This record gives sequence, C-alpha cells and structure tokens, in this order.
Amino acid sequence: MHLPRLVAAAAATCCLALLPVTAATPAGASGGPSVPDRPLRQLAADDHLRVGTAVDMSALTDDAAYRRLTGSEFSTVTAENVMKWEALEPRQGEYDYAAADRLVDFARRHGQKVRGHVLVWHSQLPSWLTSGDLTADELRAVLHRHITDTVRHFKGQVWQWDVVNEAFNEDGTLRDSIWLRKLGPGYIADAFRWAHEADPHALLFYNDYNTEWTGPKSDAVYDLVRRLRAEGVPVHGVGFQGHLGIQYGLPTDMAANFARFDRLGLATAVTEADVRMEMPADAAKLATQAEGYRRLLDACLRARHCISFTVWGFTDKYSWVPDTFPGEGAANLFDEEYRPKPAYRTLQSELAGRARSARPDDAGRTRPESISQP
Ligand code: XIL
Repeated sequence: MHLPRLVAAAAATCCLALLPVTAATPAGASGGPSVPDRPLRQLAADDHLRVGTAVDMSALTDDAAYRRLTGSEFSTVTAENVMKWEALEPRQGEYDYAAADRLVDFARRHGQKVRGHVLVWHSQLPSWLTSGDLTADELRAVLHRHITDTVRHFKGQVWQWDVVNEAFNEDGTLRDSIWLRKLGPGYIADAFRWAHEADPHALLFYNDYNTEWTGPKSDAVYDLVRRLRAEGVPVHGVGFQGHLGIQYGLPTDMAANFARFDRLGLATAVTEADVRMEMPADAAKLATQAEGYRRLLDACLRARHCISFTVWGFTDKYSWVPDTFPGEGAANLFDEEYRPKPAYRTLQSELAGRARSARPDDAGRTRPESISQP
C-alpha cells in the first residue's frame, strides 16, 4: 500500500513547494477573490453535488488523521473493499456485515450518504463460488440470494448501489465472466430487478472504467442502459470510475460523453476518481494530475444529473495504485503526510468558481436528493 520512502519524500517535497502558489491562485479570471479554504463537501453542496471517497476500513479504525479528513471533507462514502462479495459472504449463506455496518454508522454520524459497492462483479468473489461446481440454476439462485440479502440488510441506508460493475471489454463486447458464461447476458437485467425488489428507494447504477470518454466501450454501456430503460428494467444511473493515468494523455471529450447519458434522463456519477503517474512525481506531473481531476469534475458539473463525485481514496498513504500498477503512484488528492496537493486546490477552486458563476434564476443542476426512479 505504501509508496517507497524515497519516492514519498520526493512527492512531499514537490507538493509542499507548490502549495502556497496554488493556494493563492485567484479563482476569478482576472484577479477575483482567492479560493476559500473550505472543505470539499461544503463547496460541493453549493453546486448541489455530493463529494465522496472510498474508505479503507483499517485506516479508518487505526489512523486518526485519516478518520478526521474522511468525516470533514466528504459528504458520501464508498466501501473500498468491505461490501464486496468475498468480504460479505466468505462462506455460502454466512454473512459478515460487521465492517460494512461500521462504515454505514460512521456515515450516519457524519451526515454522509453511502454508495454501495458492489453487487455483481467478476473480481473479489469468494472461492466457494468460483471454484465450486455450481450449475447455471444454482448460480442464478446464489446470485439472487446474495443480492436480496445484501440489499435488504442495508435497506434505507444505501443511497446508490453499484449493481453491475465492469461487465464490458474495451471493444464493447461483454466480458467473459462466470456470470456471462453460466447465465448469459440476461444476468444484468436480473440483477437490477432483484436489487430493486429488495430496496425500491435505492438508486441503481451500472459502473465501469475507461467509459468516461466516447468509444466502443462507452457506446456499449450507452446502448445497454438505453435498452434496459426501454424494457422497464430499474436502472437509474451510470457510474464512471475515473481511474486516469497522466502518461496516456488526458481525455478531452468527457463532458460530451456524460451529457449523452444525462439526456437519457439517467443519473451519472464519478465513482472512483484517481489520477496516477509514473513515479517519481514532480511539479509538472502534479499539475497535469490536477488538470485530470478538474476535467472529471467539470464533466460531472456540466451534466445536470451528475449527483456525486467520488475519489478512490484521498491520500497517497493508502492507495491501490502502487500495488496494482507497478512503478506508478501519487494518484490521490493528499500526499502521504496528508498535505493537500495541487489537485485538491484545483477541485476547491473549480467547485467555488462554479457556485459563484451560477445565475440566481438558473434552473441549475438537479439536487442529488431529488433524483427519483422512473
Ligand atoms: C480495488 C481496491 O482499491 C483494492 O484495495 C483491492 O485490492 C482491489 O480492488 N475498480 C473497482 C474497485 O470497481 O472495486 C477496485 O478497488 C478498483 C477498480
């Protein structure tokens, strides 16, 4: 989880050096008022947006600084791992909700909403499910039961559920998962129907990565949700994970892509934003990273029904990136010592600027709470 020491030191040095300059940057075009140093959740509230983070439950328990910022900066939380199938149902029919319940309780005490992550995914499944020799009928019953039990357990406490995660390949074909192989493509509609039966008030999302811009994968998601809606399947939103890497160049047409989902009448959300880089970090890379975060937020703020902007962890101290992408890191808003990076100041500035520029008579963005099911 931790960056190598030297790299961390380099990242810390560069961010600290940049901080005063960034913080003093005026928000207005020509010498407007400087950016108010208010928590993201307050600034986002002015834009009718919830801002969230994925939460690492060990860090929440053991690290007071982490706990403080989780509560003060964010108005929604997502379980980074503890609502995944392997964590919730490690043995068939035996649930362990303890860690997830602790997060839901934390959220309640801090006035936060909860994104439930995740009901149907090909990854982090328990071995009894993947290595067991379940027939198609048995697997379908197991999926129905897991969705029903889990969504019922959290009924009324989860705002948005990621019902199906990462079902597509990059070319827009359906991913070859245990679900597709054994149940066929109908598993997707079934999952949404079952989740809706278990909690009719939860907002149900399809969630994926590399779908933030237009292309075969995002086209496939678009076609899927349009068809599901036409068939009366209760899908309410599309989540764009937002895992970017600056070495690939920053995407340019995210706002247009979010807009076409918005026009379908669906809610949208950025669900797992982080912007990684090849290490070591330097000032130029951190500036590009800040622009990556800004573009993701901008795409969301331009979409009338984009109701939440969630980062996949907020500190480089606990990030999935170095473990998953060797040689890469520094992907989050705060460094390992909880110092805000340029990306954090940029989000503050973008949120504050948008709120100021909204016309009083503007119909404006939908309030997140007012999104309802069809
Ligand atoms: C990641 C977690 O951050 C890691 O701690 C875990 O080891 C693997 O999963 N897309 C998703 C998330 O939908 O659930 C993944 O989270 C990151 C990619």
